[in-house]
Amino acid sequence: MSNMYSHVGENLSVSALVVDGDLHLRVGDTQVDIAAIWLRDSCPCPESRGVGNGQKLFNIVDLPADTQVERVRIVGRNVEVEFSPDGHRGVFDVEDLIAADAPPRLADARSESAKRLWRKASEVSPLQWSAWSDYLADPAPALRAVVDEGFALLTGVPTELGQVVAVAETFGFVRKTNYGTIFDVRVEENPVNLAFTGLAISPHTDNPYRDPVPTLQLLHCIHNSTVGGESGLVDGFAAAATLREKDPRAFDILTSTPVTFRFDSADAHLSTVAPMITLDHSGRICEIRFNNRSMVAPRLEPDVSREFYNAYRTFAELLYAPDAQLNFQLDAGDCLIFDNTRLLHARTAFAATGGRHLQGTYADLDGLLSALHIHEEN
Ligand SMILES: [Fe+2]
Repeated sequence: MSNMYSHVGENLSVSALVVDGDLHLRVGDTQVDIAAIWLRDSCPCPESRGVGNGQKLFNIVDLPADTQVERVRIVGRNVEVEFSPDGHRGVFDVEDLIAADAPPRLADARSESAKRLWRKASEVSPLQWSAWSDYLADPAPALRAVVDEGFALLTGVPTELGQVVAVAETFGFVRKTNYGTIFDVRVEENPVNLAFTGLAISPHTDNPYRDPVPTLQLLHCIHNSTVGGESGLVDGFAAAATLREKDPRAFDILTSTPVTFRFDSADAHLSTVAPMITLDHSGRICEIRFNNRSMVAPRLEPDVSREFYNAYRTFAELLYAPDAQLNFQLDAGDCLIFDNTRLLHARTAFAATGGRHLQGTYADLDGLLSALHIHEEN
């Protein structure tokens, strides 16, 4: 059964065809096919949505399972719909109905498709540093860089202890862990973690043994008068994308083999099982966990194990390639913000006697994306 409704306004031609109770809407050259139940579930009327907050006021079980579009009236840019069997009426903006086919701009910001991948450090050089005062006046460019390139660099941040929390609070909330609200990266006498020594640390993501993993890390340099201790960043999404092109079998192994990551200390026992490369529901790269210090490889059949280790080695060779790593010195007042689900970070060795003191904290991308959305909308 079908019914046709149409309206040709001054700038817009809208027509609606109801077939078997569902709505087929044509606006100009665009056609969208909309199930009646979706339309009823999306009704913006004040009976269906809280006024001011837009939150849904009903549950799925409150809607008749046999909901159909009974009648349609097109008035300018609005489609007025009467549903059966309950007689509910709703008014829909045609632009909103068309736009609902596209995901919200930031909802998809976590996967490789929303990023500007850099396979070589030269692709993000020279480095863009944002002065702290400029950042406070308009944080959007630096926050956008964290989404696009995976990191932002601030300079001139006050070198007071604890200031890294204030930086995180410009866009979100810190994630307190067993390392505390803030962790001090400097040489310690009895380090629970190699980060708290002067040793070189190869590229890794932090805390892969945590679920959920901290999605952002901030490192703020309080002072640095030592030789060495350069910081390095590597784009893990770019390396994974290269692996997919050059060695699809290795990519498949690393996206499908669960690996254990583990951390033990006197006051923490943390363990998570996840692949080294995580794909989202559309098969796009969305998270890297790579940390030689805390990874416990699964014990597999020898043939499978060899294949896993070969894939792991090939991925590591891409991540450790000298031209993939962006190196820079963090000096007093510099603060690095980076996406810990995408970028690996590293540092060169430094003298244990020198004065190098960074303060770090963890935070999360959802807060940063929210802040970015608000800043970019205003
Ligand atoms: Fe680290």
